[in-house]
Amino acid sequence: MTFPLRRLIQITDPHVGPARDYRLAGVETLETLRQVLAEIGSSPALPEIICATGDIAADGSAAAYRLFTQQIQFLELPYQWLPGNHDDKQVIREGITATPYWPLLELGAWRVLSLDTAVPGAVGGRLAGEELDFLAHQLEREPEAPTVVFMHHPPVPVGCAWLDAQRVANAAELEAILRRHHNVRALFTGHVHQEFQAHWAGTEVYTTPATCFQFRPQSADFAIDRQPPGYRWIELHPDGRLVTGCRYLEQPPLHLDQRLARY
Ligand SMILES: [Fe+2]
Repeated sequence: MTFPLRRLIQITDPHVGPARDYRLAGVETLETLRQVLAEIGSSPALPEIICATGDIAADGSAAAYRLFTQQIQFLELPYQWLPGNHDDKQVIREGITATPYWPLLELGAWRVLSLDTAVPGAVGGRLAGEELDFLAHQLEREPEAPTVVFMHHPPVPVGCAWLDAQRVANAAELEAILRRHHNVRALFTGHVHQEFQAHWAGTEVYTTPATCFQFRPQSADFAIDRQPPGYRWIELHPDGRLVTGCRYLEQPPLHLDQRLARY
Protein backbone atom coordinates (compact mmCIF):
# COMPACT_ATOMS: atom_id res chain seq x y z
CA MET A 1 0.00 0.00 0.00
CA THR A 2 1.32 3.45 -0.83
CA PHE A 3 0.36 6.67 0.86
CA PRO A 4 0.34 10.13 -0.72
CA LEU A 5 2.47 13.04 0.45
CA ARG A 6 0.94 14.71 3.53
CA ARG A 7 1.10 18.49 3.91
CA LEU A 8 0.91 20.22 7.30
CA ILE A 9 1.19 23.83 8.34
CA GLN A 10 2.43 25.00 11.72
CA ILE A 11 1.28 28.38 12.97
CA THR A 12 2.36 29.53 16.39
CA ASP A 13 2.11 32.26 19.02
CA PRO A 14 -0.78 34.28 17.55
CA HIS A 15 -1.28 36.11 20.91
CA VAL A 16 -4.85 37.03 19.99
CA GLY A 17 -6.38 39.46 22.49
CA PRO A 18 -9.87 39.74 23.93
CA ALA A 19 -10.97 42.34 21.31
CA ARG A 20 -10.47 42.64 17.54
CA ASP A 21 -8.41 45.82 17.86
CA TYR A 22 -6.14 44.44 20.61
CA ARG A 23 -2.48 45.34 20.00
CA LEU A 24 0.69 43.86 21.38
CA ALA A 25 3.90 45.82 20.67
CA GLY A 26 1.77 47.95 18.36
CA VAL A 27 0.76 44.87 16.35
CA GLU A 28 -2.88 44.01 15.73
CA THR A 29 -2.35 40.33 16.42
CA LEU A 30 -5.72 39.19 15.04
CA GLU A 31 -4.98 41.05 11.80
CA THR A 32 -1.51 39.54 11.34
CA LEU A 33 -3.01 36.09 12.05
CA ARG A 34 -5.63 36.84 9.38
CA GLN A 35 -2.90 37.81 6.89
CA VAL A 36 -0.89 34.64 7.58
CA LEU A 37 -3.98 32.44 7.25
CA ALA A 38 -4.93 34.21 4.01
CA GLU A 39 -1.51 33.42 2.60
CA ILE A 40 -1.83 29.78 3.67
CA GLY A 41 -5.29 29.61 2.08
CA SER A 42 -4.03 31.03 -1.23
CA SER A 43 -1.45 28.26 -1.65
CA PRO A 44 -2.02 25.98 -4.66
CA ALA A 45 -1.21 22.98 -2.44
CA LEU A 46 -3.44 23.25 0.61
CA PRO A 47 -2.39 21.51 3.84
CA GLU A 48 -4.61 18.82 5.25
CA ILE A 49 -4.24 20.19 8.74
CA ILE A 50 -2.96 23.33 10.47
CA CYS A 51 -1.25 22.82 13.84
CA ALA A 52 -1.40 25.84 16.16
CA THR A 53 1.33 25.38 18.74
CA GLY A 54 0.30 27.56 21.66
CA ASP A 55 0.13 31.10 22.96
CA ILE A 56 -3.05 31.31 20.95
CA ALA A 57 -4.39 33.91 23.37
CA ALA A 58 -2.31 36.76 24.80
CA ASP A 59 -4.27 36.65 28.04
CA GLY A 60 -6.05 33.28 28.15
CA SER A 61 -9.48 34.92 27.76
CA ALA A 62 -12.52 33.14 26.35
CA ALA A 63 -13.07 36.09 23.98
CA ALA A 64 -9.60 35.57 22.46
CA TYR A 65 -10.30 31.89 21.74
CA ARG A 66 -13.62 32.82 20.13
CA LEU A 67 -11.86 35.33 17.87
CA PHE A 68 -9.12 32.82 16.99
CA THR A 69 -11.73 30.17 16.17
CA GLN A 70 -13.76 32.56 14.00
CA GLN A 71 -10.63 33.60 12.12
CA ILE A 72 -9.21 30.14 11.45
CA GLN A 73 -12.61 28.74 10.48
CA PHE A 74 -12.73 31.10 7.47
CA LEU A 75 -10.14 28.81 5.89
CA GLU A 76 -12.39 25.75 6.08
CA LEU A 77 -9.35 23.55 6.72
CA PRO A 78 -8.94 21.11 9.61
CA TYR A 79 -6.84 22.45 12.45
CA GLN A 80 -5.63 21.40 15.86
CA TRP A 81 -4.09 23.25 18.78
CA LEU A 82 -2.00 22.76 21.89
CA PRO A 83 -1.48 25.16 24.82
CA GLY A 84 1.37 27.58 25.51
CA ASN A 85 2.33 29.50 28.63
CA HIS A 86 0.00 32.42 27.81
CA ASP A 87 -2.99 30.10 27.42
CA ASP A 88 -5.42 29.09 30.14
CA LYS A 89 -5.86 25.33 29.74
CA GLN A 90 -9.41 25.25 31.03
CA VAL A 91 -10.56 28.26 29.03
CA ILE A 92 -8.85 27.10 25.83
CA ARG A 93 -10.65 23.73 26.04
CA GLU A 94 -13.97 25.48 26.51
CA GLY A 95 -13.16 28.20 23.97
CA ILE A 96 -11.93 26.22 20.95
CA THR A 97 -14.83 23.82 20.93
CA ALA A 98 -14.84 23.34 17.16
CA THR A 99 -11.84 21.05 17.45
CA PRO A 100 -10.79 19.18 20.58
CA TYR A 101 -7.22 18.65 21.76
CA TRP A 102 -5.80 15.79 19.66
CA PRO A 103 -2.62 14.28 21.14
CA LEU A 104 -2.34 11.69 18.36
CA LEU A 105 -3.16 12.06 14.66
CA GLU A 106 -2.70 9.35 12.06
CA LEU A 107 -1.82 10.70 8.63
CA GLY A 108 -1.22 7.67 6.43
CA ALA A 109 2.03 6.08 7.54
CA TRP A 110 2.85 9.09 9.71
CA ARG A 111 1.99 9.82 13.32
CA VAL A 112 1.63 13.37 14.60
CA LEU A 113 1.92 13.78 18.38
CA SER A 114 1.14 16.87 20.46
CA LEU A 115 2.72 17.32 23.87
CA ASP A 116 1.76 19.86 26.51
CA THR A 117 4.79 21.72 27.93
CA ALA A 118 2.83 24.52 29.60
CA VAL A 119 2.93 24.81 33.38
CA PRO A 120 0.10 26.88 34.90
CA GLY A 121 1.46 30.12 36.31
CA ALA A 122 4.95 29.65 34.82
CA VAL A 123 6.59 31.10 31.71
CA GLY A 124 9.04 28.26 31.19
CA GLY A 125 8.20 24.77 29.93
CA ARG A 126 8.14 21.34 31.52
CA LEU A 127 6.83 17.94 30.39
CA ALA A 128 4.66 16.27 33.01
CA GLY A 129 5.10 12.55 33.64
CA GLU A 130 1.89 11.73 31.72
CA GLU A 131 3.20 13.54 28.65
CA LEU A 132 6.50 11.65 28.71
CA ASP A 133 4.66 8.34 29.30
CA PHE A 134 2.31 9.03 26.41
CA LEU A 135 5.25 9.74 24.08
CA ALA A 136 7.19 6.64 25.18
CA HIS A 137 4.10 4.45 24.89
CA GLN A 138 3.27 5.68 21.38
CA LEU A 139 6.86 5.25 20.14
CA GLU A 140 6.95 1.73 21.55
CA ARG A 141 3.54 0.85 20.14
CA GLU A 142 4.45 1.84 16.58
CA PRO A 143 8.26 1.67 16.36
CA GLU A 144 8.23 1.70 12.56
CA ALA A 145 5.87 4.66 12.09
CA PRO A 146 7.66 7.88 11.12
CA THR A 147 6.56 10.39 13.74
CA VAL A 148 6.62 14.14 14.28
CA VAL A 149 6.07 15.89 17.60
CA PHE A 150 4.59 19.32 18.23
CA MET A 151 4.91 21.25 21.49
CA HIS A 152 5.09 24.86 22.63
CA HIS A 153 8.46 25.24 24.37
CA PRO A 154 11.68 24.12 22.69
CA PRO A 155 13.86 21.60 24.53
CA VAL A 156 17.09 23.20 23.24
CA PRO A 157 18.69 26.64 23.54
CA VAL A 158 18.16 28.86 20.50
CA GLY A 159 20.88 31.40 21.29
CA CYS A 160 18.79 33.99 23.17
CA ALA A 161 19.80 33.80 26.85
CA TRP A 162 16.46 35.10 28.16
CA LEU A 163 14.45 32.57 26.10
CA ASP A 164 16.87 29.73 26.68
CA ALA A 165 16.14 29.96 30.42
CA GLN A 166 12.50 29.12 29.54
CA ARG A 167 13.15 25.96 27.52
CA VAL A 168 11.72 22.61 28.66
CA ALA A 169 13.27 22.21 32.12
CA ASN A 170 13.34 18.40 32.03
CA ALA A 171 14.47 18.10 28.41
CA ALA A 172 16.93 15.37 29.51
CA GLU A 173 13.96 13.05 30.15
CA LEU A 174 12.60 13.77 26.69
CA GLU A 175 16.05 13.20 25.21
CA ALA A 176 16.31 9.79 26.90
CA ILE A 177 13.01 8.66 25.32
CA LEU A 178 13.94 9.97 21.87
CA ARG A 179 17.33 8.24 21.97
CA ARG A 180 15.70 4.89 22.83
CA HIS A 181 13.61 5.09 19.64
CA HIS A 182 14.50 6.00 16.13
CA ASN A 183 11.23 6.99 14.51
CA VAL A 184 10.85 10.63 15.55
CA ARG A 185 11.78 12.54 12.40
CA ALA A 186 11.31 16.02 13.84
CA LEU A 187 10.10 18.05 16.76
CA PHE A 188 8.39 21.39 16.03
CA THR A 189 7.96 24.11 18.64
CA GLY A 190 6.89 27.71 19.10
CA HIS A 191 7.44 30.13 21.99
CA VAL A 192 10.68 31.70 20.75
CA HIS A 193 9.11 33.78 17.92
CA GLN A 194 11.91 32.95 15.48
CA GLU A 195 13.06 30.33 13.00
CA PHE A 196 15.75 28.01 14.32
CA GLN A 197 16.97 24.46 13.70
CA ALA A 198 19.13 22.12 15.76
CA HIS A 199 20.09 18.46 15.63
CA TRP A 200 19.30 17.05 19.07
CA ALA A 201 18.60 13.66 20.67
CA GLY A 202 18.97 11.92 17.31
CA THR A 203 16.30 14.05 15.68
CA GLU A 204 15.77 17.56 14.30
CA VAL A 205 14.28 20.38 16.35
CA TYR A 206 12.65 23.23 14.43
CA THR A 207 11.26 26.41 15.94
CA THR A 208 8.84 28.54 13.98
CA PRO A 209 8.19 32.28 13.55
CA ALA A 210 5.13 33.72 15.29
CA THR A 211 2.12 34.98 13.38
CA CYS A 212 2.46 38.31 15.28
CA PHE A 213 6.01 39.67 15.81
CA GLN A 214 9.43 38.02 16.10
CA PHE A 215 12.07 38.18 18.79
CA ARG A 216 15.59 39.22 17.82
CA PRO A 217 17.91 36.24 17.31
CA GLN A 218 21.00 36.02 19.53
CA SER A 219 19.67 38.60 22.00
CA ALA A 220 20.65 38.36 25.66
CA ASP A 221 17.51 40.18 26.82
CA PHE A 222 13.96 40.64 25.53
CA ALA A 223 14.17 42.30 22.10
CA ILE A 224 11.69 42.56 19.22
CA ASP A 225 12.89 42.10 15.65
CA ARG A 226 11.58 43.60 12.40
CA GLN A 227 11.20 40.22 10.69
CA PRO A 228 7.60 39.92 9.37
CA PRO A 229 4.99 37.45 10.68
CA GLY A 230 5.46 33.91 9.40
CA TYR A 231 4.57 30.23 9.53
CA ARG A 232 6.06 26.82 8.72
CA TRP A 233 5.14 24.33 5.98
CA ILE A 234 5.88 20.65 6.46
CA GLU A 235 5.82 17.84 3.88
CA LEU A 236 5.65 14.27 5.15
CA HIS A 237 6.69 11.93 2.36
CA PRO A 238 5.47 8.34 2.11
CA ASP A 239 9.05 7.01 2.36
CA GLY A 240 9.53 8.66 5.77
CA ARG A 241 11.35 11.74 4.45
CA LEU A 242 10.41 15.12 5.86
CA VAL A 243 10.88 18.48 4.13
CA THR A 244 10.11 21.77 5.88
CA GLY A 245 10.65 25.50 5.64
CA CYS A 246 9.25 28.85 6.77
CA ARG A 247 7.45 31.57 4.86
CA TYR A 248 7.03 35.18 5.90
CA LEU A 249 4.68 38.00 4.98
CA GLU A 250 6.35 40.64 2.80
CA GLN A 251 6.26 43.44 5.35
CA PRO A 252 6.67 43.72 9.12
CA PRO A 253 3.42 44.75 10.87
CA LEU A 254 2.51 48.37 10.11
CA HIS A 255 2.71 49.81 13.64
CA LEU A 256 5.30 47.47 15.11
CA ASP A 257 6.72 49.08 18.26
CA GLN A 258 10.08 47.58 19.14
CA ARG A 259 10.27 49.50 22.42
CA LEU A 260 8.12 46.97 24.29
CA ALA A 261 10.26 45.78 27.19
CA ARG A 262 8.38 42.59 28.05
CA TYR A 263 5.15 40.79 27.15
FE1 LIG B 1 5.19 31.06 24.84
